[in-house]
Amino acid sequence: NEGALWGGRFAGGPADALAALSKSTHFDWRLARYDIAGSKAHARVLHTAGLLDDAELAGMLDALDRLDADVVSGAYVPAESDEDVHGSLERGLIERAGPALGGKLRAGRSRNDQVATLGRMFLRDHARIIARGVLATVDALVGQAEAHPHAAMPGRTHLQHAQPVLLSHHLLAHAWALLRDVQRLADWDRRAAVSPYGSGALAGSTLGLDPNAVAADLGFDSAVWNSIDGTAARDVFAEFAWVAAMIGVDLSRVSEEVILWATKEFSFVTLDDAYSTGSSIMPQKKNPDVAELARGKAGRLIGDLTGLLATLKGLPLAYNRDLQEDKEPVFDAADTLELLLPAVSGMIATLRFNTARMAELAPLGFALATDIAEWLVRQGVPFREAHELSGAAVKLAESRGVELWDLTDEDYAGISAALTPEVRTVLSTEGSLNARSAQGGTAPSAVAAQLDALKGQLEAL
Ligand code: ARG
Repeated sequence: NEGALWGGRFAGGPADALAALSKSTHFDWRLARYDIAGSKAHARVLHTAGLLDDAELAGMLDALDRLDADVVSGAYVPAESDEDVHGSLERGLIERAGPALGGKLRAGRSRNDQVATLGRMFLRDHARIIARGVLATVDALVGQAEAHPHAAMPGRTHLQHAQPVLLSHHLLAHAWALLRDVQRLADWDRRAAVSPYGSGALAGSTLGLDPNAVAADLGFDSAVWNSIDGTAARDVFAEFAWVAAMIGVDLSRVSEEVILWATKEFSFVTLDDAYSTGSSIMPQKKNPDVAELARGKAGRLIGDLTGLLATLKGLPLAYNRDLQEDKEPVFDAADTLELLLPAVSGMIATLRFNTARMAELAPLGFALATDIAEWLVRQGVPFREAHELSGAAVKLAESRGVELWDLTDEDYAGISAALTPEVRTVLSTEGSLNARSAQGGTAPSAVAAQLDALKGQLEAL
């Protein structure tokens, strides 16, 4: 069992089936450079504690740098016999530094605290990449909102016409959700910025090593206060997976709307050719595959989260080998979002809106009925009664197959003396929009203020 990290008390090597099951180099190799960075930090605390002399530290760092260069160039890759990235890199170090020096590095650390630390380093880097991708999507939504400041559209609840809204207001609703996801990543990072290195296998080390020195060296804010927690906790991974799933869900919601809007029936948007696909049999087809893949990938991201949570459920403290299963779900979540976000942001940035059709549909389906009711309230009619009277107007218009503004002054007077001809001031999309001018409303003035507020939060990130 040449090269294994734990041969001493064993009579023979592992069965082939165990070795195959145990192996993780095919997915944990992407932690290799983090592992080497951790080894360099660890070498420095061994030196500080007097366990490596100056020459040994220099030799160790030099060998690790050479190993790093070989990992980057591909000159060094894991061998078939390597169980995991940590063992493989110890082999690579010993090949370069010799067994006398290379064999000293493992003192005072365990793969348990190593792997917990390296996972956090990986995820912190990828959280930044993902945040940039989400911000590009926010920018695309903001850009479209700014390009269409006055366009109206049918606002919906239950997918039915509800009240007219500005297209910009609708687009910014998606932007706020995605902005919160970026804020979540930043907040998550405060919890991820705590280093488990120094926890050892579970109980810390006897060698007088300073975990906070390693933490600072590796870009963490501090070291964990509990070595059992340091090696056994994976809530930081699970929280990352949750935020990733939330981003996937938020992208799938905007994507579902793009899919609907691109149908013949809606005809609200045209997808750019660069972000749509054709059919191998139907020459006329232009399909919203980016949006559909976003919707599909959301399921995959939810799976990454639930799979990881299922792995963690019921695990006793401290490290258990089950935890080797923590990496693939979060790696997959990061890979999925890094693939998806540029496509979704590009799709949104290049959408062309049919604003004339959207504006035409905005007030249809009696979408101004609430405006009549609230106009009556402003005339002193109790809302309960105003709701009934407006409903009566809808009933009358519906029975005639006309819209609310087609009813005559006599029709309105016949419903109630309170429905004077002045009610017509609210029977337009523009009147309806302008009247909703309080913070958060869809009036153009309120949406302009909203845009400023959103940009303020983007700048504060
Ligand atoms: N490769 C393992 C993992 O990914 C780390 C090794 C810990 N192994 C052990 N027997 N304690 O979690």
